[in-house]
Amino acid sequence: MNNNEILEWLREVQHPAKGDQSVVALGMVDEIKCEEGRIHVTLAFPKRPDPLKNYLVGAVQACLYRNAPGGTEIEVDTVVKDPAKPKKGIEFNLEQLREVSHIIGVASGKGGVGKSTVAVNLAVALARLGYRVGVADADVYGPSIPTMTGTEGVTIEMYGEDENDNLFVPVEKYGVKWLSVGHVSNAGQALIWRGPMASTALKQIILQTQWGPLDFLLIDMPPGTGDIHISLIGDVPMSGAVIVTTPQNVALADVLRGVNMFRNPQVNKPIFGLIENMSWFTPEAHPEEKYYLFGKDGGTKMAKDLDIPLLGQIPLVQGIREGGDSGEPVALGSRPDSLAFLELARKIAESV
Ligand SMILES: Nc1ncnc2c1ncn2[C@@H]1O[C@H](COP(=O)(O)OP(=O)(O)O)[C@@H](O)[C@H]1O
Ligand SMILES: [Mg+2]
Repeated sequence: MNNNEILEWLREVQHPAKGDQSVVALGMVDEIKCEEGRIHVTLAFPKRPDPLKNYLVGAVQACLYRNAPGGTEIEVDTVVKDPAKPKKGIEFNLEQLREVSHIIGVASGKGGVGKSTVAVNLAVALARLGYRVGVADADVYGPSIPTMTGTEGVTIEMYGEDENDNLFVPVEKYGVKWLSVGHVSNAGQALIWRGPMASTALKQIILQTQWGPLDFLLIDMPPGTGDIHISLIGDVPMSGAVIVTTPQNVALADVLRGVNMFRNPQVNKPIFGLIENMSWFTPEAHPEEKYYLFGKDGGTKMAKDLDIPLLGQIPLVQGIREGGDSGEPVALGSRPDSLAFLELARKIAESV
């Protein structure tokens, strides 16, 4: 139970005198406090008396009782203040994520560890297992999904009449829906950059896109652990995250930062586990050989130290890099490294 989830519930509560718009759309939800066994919601009413005030307080209470686990203590109070003006155009509501079952952040403490490679191949592998999958490439610093999927230069279609409720239509390829910051800036779409901050752009990629029904939406997060990340994790109702790392000891500090970002009490999202990439090197010509260039049990030890499961190990092989460069992810094939991604996909689907 988190604030985003509660906000979603409150969309059921409509204001009968305001064209049945929800209290959320009307900006009347002033504050939500949610802790173990207790939810406190404050509704904002304007100075002008609202004859439906008591009705709405009751409706919000009823909605919370209906949706919260049994025994949850519910409190609703009110404050007099003009409701926040709903923002036009880039008002981020969760409408487009309604039919998405699980949103998983693919994160890493730092760049270059293979986060995008893992995200792309994991998505393709999940699709091969029969799941409906989307990938949002939110890496504003280095969006690589267009190249890795051979979709650079495609023109992103927009859906919707009014410029203010335009939606991106993701690119479909390999049975997966893809949308990248790179696609959108390639296409010269001004919309995405209208917001002043990178974090706005990111949220547009995720929240202003017509995803439709999906079992999994993977988010290729920007590397690192800054404000952009906290804001993204706070505003997008992620089910949790997987963290990609390489086995070297030096990576531990970065991974720890990544883990703490999700465990931060403000966001508090579960971490499904660690994915160790480049675990060993296998020459193309000798697929049975394994060379542990960075030591053998870095990932296992790291997972143990951080008390999270190790979901999988992906070898360092030339084919994975070539698949990324050529836009044909290895997970499409049946080589040993393709199977490693299928195994990983199975594990993740299970643990989610
Ligand atoms: N397991 C692997 N085997 C071979 N090359 C890899 C592997 N994982 C990643 N790479 C390559 O390493 C580079 C960085 O990977 P990338 O996924 O872009 O990292 P990140 O998204 O973390 O910055 C890319 O050229 C990619 O093809
Ligand atoms: Mg990347």
